[in-house]
Amino acid sequence: MLKFLIDADTGIDDSVAICYALRQPNVRVVGITTSFGNTTAPQGAENSLRLIKMMDPGYEVPVVVGENKPLFGDWHGPEYHIHGSNGIGGVELPETDQKPLDMKAEDFIIEMAREHGRELTIITLGRMTNLALAVQKEPNLPQMVKNVIFMGGTFKERGNVLPHSEANIFGDPEAADIVFRAGFDLTMVGLDVTHKTQVTPEALAKLKKYASPENQAFADYIIKATDDVYFPFNHAQNNCLDRSPVHDPSALVYATCPQLFKTVRVPARVECKGEFTRGMIVTDFREYPFDAQYVNICVDVDHVRVLEKIISTFTAKAFKI
Ligand code: BDR
Ligand code: CA
Repeated sequence: MLKFLIDADTGIDDSVAICYALRQPNVRVVGITTSFGNTTAPQGAENSLRLIKMMDPGYEVPVVVGENKPLFGDWHGPEYHIHGSNGIGGVELPETDQKPLDMKAEDFIIEMAREHGRELTIITLGRMTNLALAVQKEPNLPQMVKNVIFMGGTFKERGNVLPHSEANIFGDPEAADIVFRAGFDLTMVGLDVTHKTQVTPEALAKLKKYASPENQAFADYIIKATDDVYFPFNHAQNNCLDRSPVHDPSALVYATCPQLFKTVRVPARVECKGEFTRGMIVTDFREYPFDAQYVNICVDVDHVRVLEKIISTFTAKAFKI
């Protein structure tokens, strides 16, 4: 059984990643912590709770509200123009009685690491603020858990905030650099692969058509959530193509099917300064590289099989593109 702790800024692609994880028969989601980004941390927790209710995984998934701003400085607020008024495209999912746990996200991360030890994979889908605070509080965290997989950053692909910077890293580069230096077995699922895997409204329509009965609510939700702002935003940002990159679900597919990705292993740090480079992942291929830890960076992907894997999770029969 794979054990995942997911840290998310629960927006639209985060929600697909969470639902994907909750539907894997060989995965147990031991908890969800939230951070600011696509929406606020409290709203992200509310979204996560409602998604858990919708998916009804058959076991309890605790949710904890995490940090609502970066380690340094302020936060400009949610990405309404990408993820809608509430982070999930303005869709009002049914309410749930489950409440977030009354504790700090970093303490929950440490508690889960103590409980599940080297079986635990921490997957971050937003800013790394909660994880940075956790490792500052418990410096042995990297040795306590199995690994960390994160959606964020870019290696050779263009950035989506600055020329070389991706939103999750740019949103709190100091936190990301703390995680990069901490000693985790760390894998980056960045724009080099998430831009290659793209979903279209037609693929979602097929998902709905073939969704198994227990996933009908998810299918209805994701079509509504992407309709108003997500596909139109991606249409504008991605050379007017009617398709959208598959960011956060790619990290979950890596966590469950790493054989679909090609990685390189290289010393890397996060640039925390620079008018044009803040949030850039700096890799060092020199013979005598700078003092940095090795990071596994996804550089290529079997994007057809990744998309098939995601859609098949929700359909009655294996889905072929
Ligand atoms: C990342 O930024 C967020 O908007 C998405 O959810 C994803 O995690 C993509 O750059
Ligand atoms: Ca995210």
